[in-house]
Amino acid sequence: MQDNQKVVIVTGASQGIGAALVEAYRRRNYRVVATSRSIEPVADANLLAIRGDIGDPSTGPDVVAKALAHFGRVDTLINNAGIFLANRFTRYSAEEYDRVVATNLTGFFFTTQAAIEAMEERRSGHVVNITTSLVRQANSNVPSVLASLTKGGLDAATRSLAIEYARNGIRVNAVSPGVIRTPMHGPETHEALAALHPVGRLGEVSDIVGAVLYLEDAPFVTGETLHVDGGQSAGH
Ligand SMILES: NC(=O)c1ccc[n+]([C@@H]2O[C@H](COP(=O)([O-])OP(=O)(O)OC[C@H]3O[C@@H](n4cnc5c(N)ncnc54)[C@H](OP(=O)(O)O)[C@@H]3O)[C@@H](O)[C@H]2O)c1
Repeated sequence: MQDNQKVVIVTGASQGIGAALVEAYRRRNYRVVATSRSIEPVADANLLAIRGDIGDPSTGPDVVAKALAHFGRVDTLINNAGIFLANRFTRYSAEEYDRVVATNLTGFFFTTQAAIEAMEERRSGHVVNITTSLVRQANSNVPSVLASLTKGGLDAATRSLAIEYARNGIRVNAVSPGVIRTPMHGPETHEALAALHPVGRLGEVSDIVGAVLYLEDAPFVTGETLHVDGGQSAGH
């Protein structure tokens, strides 16, 4: 183990965007801590898989503590775990509200708190929050206020934390995806979802990975929300 080898924590790492981020950071020779409820252990000394429900306030701090115990440092946190439940506003149940808020917001809050504490010691770090284009571009065909409420919170918190920690060597950015081809969307929905984007196609996981790696390599960029949404944020 080299002490100068960087360490990234990726939440929601078992599939989709999170799994691709794990591979991308491993290709960059980062040591990776990958977490989700169902994640499987792998035979790679530089990849630690930790199971947990990110909506439980103790999971994030536990993941950060294990990252420090195994790898000694935390350089980057990607808050990627998230769920999407579309429904009409008046139809959302209290259980749905609790589940979306826990996964998308509570997970972000306590994981980031513990990670930034660790980053502060080294006066260096980077947090990336994965939001959604629905924060800025509500769509009458996809009523989903819980996505806007929770991911909008992450979007605002990105700028708030970027400013709070700007003098501490810690950057905080967000990536705002349009609809991305992942297990989140069944193939039968792809054509209709593709049509939501000015470019006329779905986004690919590689589009989001490229955006996160750009932010990783951009030391003068903080408080930014990078729109990776096939033009949705520009208009229709
Ligand atoms: N795909 C899109 O079109 C799209 C668009 C905009 C934003 N996003 C955002 O991008 C992120 C990744 O999306 P994706 O499309 O890759 O989703 P996905 O394929 O559904 O994967 C979601 C990941 O989050 C984990 N997860 C879900 N609930 C969790 C919980 N309670 N505790 C811990 N982990 C949990 C899942 O693992 P387990 O089941 O093992 O826990 C899985 O690894 C999400 O934040 C999503 O909101 C996606």
